[in-house]
Amino acid sequence: MKLFIRKPLAQLMAASKEGEKTLKRTLGVGSLIALGIGAIIGAGIFVRTAAAAGEHAGPAVTISFLIAAAGCALAGLCYAEFASMIPIAGSAYTYSYATMGEFIAWIIGWDLVLEYALGAATVAIGWSQYFNTFLETFFNVHIPFALSHSPFEVSTTTTGMYAAELGTRGIINLPAIFILLMLTLLLIKGTAESAAVNNVIVIIKVAIVLMIIGLGWSFINPANHVPYMIPANAPDVKTNTGVVHFSDTFNHGWLGVLRGASVVFFAFIGFDAVSTAAQEAKNPQKDMPKGILISLVFCTILYILFSHVLTGLVSYREFLVQGKEASVTYAIQAVMHGYGWLAKLVTIAILAGFSSVILVMLLGQTRVFYTMSTDGLIWPIFSKLHPKFRTPYKSQWFFFVMVSLFAGFIPDSIVGDMVSIGTLFAFVLVCVGIFILRRTDPGITRPFSTPIYWLVCPAGAIICLFMMASEGLENWLRLFIWMGFGIIIYFTYSVKHSHVRHGKPADAIDPPNPKFVE
Ligand code: ALA
Repeated sequence: MKLFIRKPLAQLMAASKEGEKTLKRTLGVGSLIALGIGAIIGAGIFVRTAAAAGEHAGPAVTISFLIAAAGCALAGLCYAEFASMIPIAGSAYTYSYATMGEFIAWIIGWDLVLEYALGAATVAIGWSQYFNTFLETFFNVHIPFALSHSPFEVSTTTTGMYAAELGTRGIINLPAIFILLMLTLLLIKGTAESAAVNNVIVIIKVAIVLMIIGLGWSFINPANHVPYMIPANAPDVKTNTGVVHFSDTFNHGWLGVLRGASVVFFAFIGFDAVSTAAQEAKNPQKDMPKGILISLVFCTILYILFSHVLTGLVSYREFLVQGKEASVTYAIQAVMHGYGWLAKLVTIAILAGFSSVILVMLLGQTRVFYTMSTDGLIWPIFSKLHPKFRTPYKSQWFFFVMVSLFAGFIPDSIVGDMVSIGTLFAFVLVCVGIFILRRTDPGITRPFSTPIYWLVCPAGAIICLFMMASEGLENWLRLFIWMGFGIIIYFTYSVKHSHVRHGKPADAIDPPNPKFVE
């Protein structure tokens, strides 16, 4: 069986040329960097920083960010090499089909569902938390706990908006489903999200992060940074759902920092989304590597400063109880007296910022499945375009239902961890892929070459594997089950319908919705 049959590079390049007739190459390096930042800054920094600090790393979450950034930077270099070598939409799936063969491409394409679809679910859950804070702040009302949380969550706070609902169990997360519906409708209609709109959202997001760092710095209480790492003898913290035993788990010290890295790794996801815009880039071979790497470095610096301030404002223990939800707003309100306006501004900016991340994730998901469908590896329904809007509307509806099931009924900690392990797995494969290609095809033209690849590729793969290792057995099981399903579909459907395998050209070559710039 031709498991490792490759999609001819010439066929891919031809697709790229034909695409130029309809796709506008409008994105310069500035817009590509903005696109990266637009997809990167979201729930990771505004929601998961507090979770990682509270549950695992304490103030040393800054070191967790550094570890996660190192893994991403090394994988980012490999992505940059792929993107410059094969500047075509479809991201890691397309790269691997041309270089490592169909089976690996399938594994990556199937795995990317965890990154994009479940990523959208995780950010939608974060959106829901901030939406309730927004309603409470501006209108003094909120959606009841039961209707804005999954059945796995119980209200634990005795202060704040849910005080009267102490002990209530969640039923469904309606606001999360609402935002997914709105963005699905937008994507189906194909309303062009111009690069200019993205740039505006990015400026707002970055400005808010800078404001929190700049204004919050003078409110840092050095006592909150002591101890810097959660020590083995840290006192247990009582929550209404139970007690967090720091003393008898692996949740502390360096292991806690590593576990924290795998939690905040989520904050970096999205830099690879730059590679999905390859066909809209003016000068992809030169600018894609810059877009990927500069956005990563910029966000890393912001994240480290931001997490230093956040853990300095309130004790990490508070992020297990009252400050568990909408943690940034909580910290500002708790200690930055006189800055109520900042808390309000943060809430609005976060809602806008999260929406753009969800949009890019849903878009990325349907684009990867669109490409897989045109290759015959998944059902044709995923490349069925709307007669008027030219968007893959059936796929968009399918993913609305699937993503809503996760966002509506599963807590963000579980969904977010699945996103992280799935994305880390894709990064490992991309690092390994570049290493193999350097040995097997040294002659391919590489406008951008990963420096000292023999060190960068294995180091990137090893750091990502370490972060995966700290994800815990349950997440590994979920990954295996998901990949197991994928492999069954591959052998029962894909091998029979693969166009490359049967010598057929791809069904269609232009990505859907060519006007969509972001
Ligand atoms: N990096 C994106 C976020 O943090 C996924 O929301």
